[in-house]
Amino acid sequence: MEIVAPHIAEERKAGQFIILQVDENFGERIPLTIAKADRAAGTITIVFQTVGATTHKLAKLEVGDSVAAVLGPLGRPTHVEKVGRVVAVGGGIGVAPLFPIVEAHKAAGNHVTVIMGARTKDLILFVREMRETADAVIVCTDDGSYGRKDLVTVPLKEACASATPPAEVIAIGPPIMMKFCAETTRPFGVPTVVSLNTIMVDGTGMCGGCRVTVGGETKFVCVDGPEFDGHKVDFDNMMKRMRAYKGSESKAHDRYHANHACNLEKAAAELEKRT
Ligand code: FAD
Ligand code: FES
Ligand code: MG
Repeated sequence: MEIVAPHIAEERKAGQFIILQVDENFGERIPLTIAKADRAAGTITIVFQTVGATTHKLAKLEVGDSVAAVLGPLGRPTHVEKVGRVVAVGGGIGVAPLFPIVEAHKAAGNHVTVIMGARTKDLILFVREMRETADAVIVCTDDGSYGRKDLVTVPLKEACASATPPAEVIAIGPPIMMKFCAETTRPFGVPTVVSLNTIMVDGTGMCGGCRVTVGGETKFVCVDGPEFDGHKVDFDNMMKRMRAYKGSESKAHDRYHANHACNLEKAAAELEKRT
């Protein structure tokens, strides 16, 4: 989805995100990475997966509609310098936020290999863009319907064990994927950056919702991140915190769908009342 947001398009750097609110009077704010920006057109591109009530609501918008609020760019930009070889690993929707980072590493003069994984062929994104930008692209699917039938950690381990190991790895995807990418690179001593997608509310360091433990210290993903040293992140604690609202989220999703078919306005009002 492209959104007209000229100031954000002008300022944003790779790795940053926005917080978006679909409706003015009800609903939550959700963080989404800025996947692309066009300064000349004054637009930013977001790529999102419809997983629950808010992303379904967002997906219903038509060309020409507007959203109530877009806040950004938020978070610290990706640290990019010339290091030589970089392996960028993306899982599922994580491939979208990985794309501007791959572009930035190429612009810095690095050799970039992209490893991207998805459950199945239909869920693979940005293959053309990645092939046009990176030096090499390896696609993996869980069911073997496209590319290699492997988990992304298999080619990642091959790269680390090769004669030309990466100087840096960046991994963005589901927490469990980032955890195992970090475990794969750890024995090789390859620095590994992960981009964390914790629950966020304000996005400005005030609510504490996005709290994670990194190297034994408390960090806020929205202002200290979203990128951290993957070898220091307490993934198990993070995953536990992310499950905290599962019950409410699935209720909101079911309510949205139950009511949406007959009356969108009624469903939204009902949702607002109950949450
Ligand atoms: P829900 O049913 O409410 O939630 C589904 C799952 O999404 C939850 O279990 C939880 O893991 C996560 N989630 C829910 N609420 C929030 C919240 N307020 N903040 C963060 N995560 C939440 N998704 C994309 O599809 N594309 C992106 O580019 C993208 N970038 C992100 C960047 C950052 C920095 C963060 C923190 C998250 C990003 N996400 C992205 C995740 C996205 O915010 C959630 O998928 C979205 O909030 C789900 O909302 P929902 O109401 O549709 O689903
Ligand atoms: Fe509230 Fe980070 S989202 S402190
Ligand atoms: Mg939600």
